[in-house]
Parts: sequence; structure tokens; C-alpha cells
Amino acid sequence: MAKKAVKYFECSSCGHREPKWSGRCTSCGEWNSFVEKQPPRSQTSGGGSMGGGKTAAPAPVKLSDVESGEGRRISSGMSELDRVLGGGVMGGSSVLLGGEPGIGKSTLMLQAAGAYSRGGSVLYISGEEAQSQIKMRASRLGIQGDRISLLSESSAELCSQAIHSHRPGVVIVDSIQTLGTEESSSSPGSPNQVKHSVQIISEAAREVNACVFFIAHVTKEGAIAGPKLVEHLVDAVLYFDHSQGELRFLRASKNRFGSSDEIGIFTMDAQGLQEVGDPGRLFLSEAEELPAGTAIVPVYEGSRILMVEIQALTVPGKGGFGRVYSDMIDQRRVNRVAAVLEKHANLRFSDQDVYVNVAGGIRIQDVGTELGLAMALYSARTGMPLPAATAFCGEISLSGQVRSISHLRRRIQQAGELGYGRIVAPTRDASRNNRRMRRRMIGREAVKHRL
Ligand code: TYD
Ligand code: MG
Repeated sequence: MAKKAVKYFECSSCGHREPKWSGRCTSCGEWNSFVEKQPPRSQTSGGGSMGGGKTAAPAPVKLSDVESGEGRRISSGMSELDRVLGGGVMGGSSVLLGGEPGIGKSTLMLQAAGAYSRGGSVLYISGEEAQSQIKMRASRLGIQGDRISLLSESSAELCSQAIHSHRPGVVIVDSIQTLGTEESSSSPGSPNQVKHSVQIISEAAREVNACVFFIAHVTKEGAIAGPKLVEHLVDAVLYFDHSQGELRFLRASKNRFGSSDEIGIFTMDAQGLQEVGDPGRLFLSEAEELPAGTAIVPVYEGSRILMVEIQALTVPGKGGFGRVYSDMIDQRRVNRVAAVLEKHANLRFSDQDVYVNVAGGIRIQDVGTELGLAMALYSARTGMPLPAATAFCGEISLSGQVRSISHLRRRIQQAGELGYGRIVAPTRDASRNNRRMRRRMIGREAVKHRL
């Protein structure tokens, strides 16, 4: 039997809920802040009311009878953005774009608005900047804007009304931190207000089959809500991040309609964000001869192979103790690979300070970089440069073996195309597990042999 939906009481200051009214909120300590709330209609009515206080039991539908929600994808005209969204944004879906203030979120969305407006109308809701500022930026970016409407509004209910009356194809909200609802009395930007507002605007967008992008600043813990708070309310979550250099990376951390391991690469100049469509050599330094401590690795990122230069440096640690300093590759991975070398290649790392970096400042998580990392560490510790035109890839087990990795063929092909004629790698592609792998030891002898 369907449960009867019950009223609840919500703290208007922090959003904390209680089944009974209470004089003081146990969560934020505010007095007389509880207000009675009705659960949303969708929770009370289930499959439809039968009246007389009874509700019908919800009727499950056979999966085979469900209409496919396969909507059309809308291209932004920016291939790097489309790539991260899985080939374009899905009509009627909601996307969260997070990133630090100043990273370029508004610029990216304004450029995307320019492209989307060629195929339909765009509503750009901004509580952040004056319309004249947006206009100036659009002019600088060469965006015409005759199908882009601007709205300076922070009330979620009024935004929802504007979406219903304007019926755009794409809605952009810049940013969630400026939003508030009239229903709740807490201040705009507070966690409860932001969650509520995102729900109201997403619902309005869904009703008119528009896709909606919510811009969200990554904030330090505090009174203002960050993007994490609403990640579960949207279909896709993208984060904009920058490298040590000029590059900006767009990554999907959640994507209901596609892969979440794609990466989009941009640079920022006076004409806005420029896409880096072919990042083949982007993460290699210019030097002809590689110094000791440097190894070239084909890294699998999303659907692309990037050739990346891993750099390592070792110096004696103070008092005979060493530490690992590595921002771009997980320190635990560096520690583990160094421990394997210490055990199987007879090299001491535990008394060394080990610095690891990746040229171009891209953060890498691909397990296939471990052999390259081991070679960079080996080369740094021994002072012997690695052979020219050689790339390394493979996973390293604790027993010192090089294990198979995925997409080996494509890695070899990409390395070859960029002039790395020799590749040291496991003998089997992990994505093709029908062949037996010949494991190689990377003991001292084997490493010496290759050097
Ligand atoms: P912005 O999109 O405002 O960042 P966010 O919305 O994430 O806070 O852009 C931030 C920076 O980008 C700003 O410092 C100026 C710079 N910028 C350029 O270098 N070129 C350009 O064409 C534009 C529009 C911005
Ligand atoms: Mg902005």
C-alpha cells in the first residue's frame, strides 16, 4: 500500500527538517525558525489519486514498454565542450559547470551561447554581471547576440516564469550562488536556497524541453553554497580547471548521457577561450635531448592519447629521510613505484626527496603511466638519461612486473606518429584479454639492458 505522505517542518535558516515542530533548530541553533511544509505533489500522488484519502498503488511499467528517452544532442559548435558532454548537450538536460572564480566559466558559456544561438534562442540569466558588461564581453568575443536574451534576475520563481514565457532552447544561469527562492526566508546563496532554486529552474527548463547550464563557483567551505551541493540534482557535472601554465581543462565528473572521463583543452587569450583540438605534442617540452629524469609516456585521457613528459628529480632528504612532492601524479602512486624500484632495482629512494612533475601541468591518473614514472625515477636517481625517441607505458605491480594496460595499440600508434619509434611496453593490450601476456621483470638487469 502506498504510504501516506506526511507534513514536515523545515528550518528557514538552514533547511534542516524535523517531523515535529520545535522551538529551536538542533542543526543551526536558530529560534522559531521552523515552518510547516507539504511534501511535493509528486511524492504524495504516486501513480494518481483515487480520492477519499486513499492513493492508488504505484503501477510499475515494463522496461520494454518504456519509451526511449534518447533525445537529440545539441552541438555547441565548440568541439572540446561537445566532447566532454559526450557529443553535445542532451535536449532537456541540466549541466553544472563548476570552477574557481576567474577560471573562465562565464566566457565559456557566453561563447557556447553564441554558438547555440545559431540553432535556436538562448536565455542568459546573470546575477553576476551587469548587462552592459556582458554586452562588452560578447562584442569582444565577436558574438552577435540577436537570438540571445539577457535577464538580470536572482529569483528562481521569476527565472522559471521567464523560461516558460520565452521558451528558449538553451538556458544559462550565471551563477547558482546568486539565486534565491521566494519560498524560503534564508539569504540568497545559502545552501538551502541554492538547492531549491536549481530544482525550480531545472523543472521549468525540462517543461519547455530546454537544456540548462548552471555556473557554480568553487568556494572555500563557508556560508556560500558550492557546486558539490547540487551535483546530485543535475544530469552532468563539468569542472573547469587550469594547469600551471596557460591551459584550461574541462572535465566531466558525472555524465548521465555519456562518458565521464573525457577532457576538453582550451587556452585563454584576448579573443576568449581557444580550443586545442590536437593536443598531441602539447605536454612535451621543446628540448631535443631529454635530460636525466625525463620519460615520455603515451597517456590515455578520455578518447585521446596524449604524449606526456614526466619529469623526476631526486635530492638527498634532510636527516636521511625523504619525502615525495608530486602535484600532477598521485603521491601514493609515486611512493609505490619508488618502493618497487627500491626493492627490485636496488635503488634507494627512502632517504631522498623526490620531486615529480608533468610538463604542461596536466594531472594524470592513467595507471599506464607507471612504467614511464619508474623510468623517470630510475633515470633521475642514476643520472643516466633515457634513450632518445623512446616512449614507455605499462602498469607496475608490487612484485616488479610490467602489467598489461588498455589501448596499447593506439598508444603505440600515437607514439610512432609523433616520432617515438621505440616503445617499451607490456606485450599485451589489457583491452584484448584473449592472448596470454608475457610478463617482464623490471629488475636491475632488465632496466640496465634497455638503457
Ligand atoms: P570569466 O569568464 O569572467 O571567469 P569566471 O566566470 O570563471 O569567474 O573570465 C575570467 C578571466 O578571463 C578574466 O580574468 C579575464 C580573462 N579573459 C581573457 O583573458 N580573454 C577574454 O576574451 C575574456 C572574455 C576573459
Ligand atoms: Mg563569471
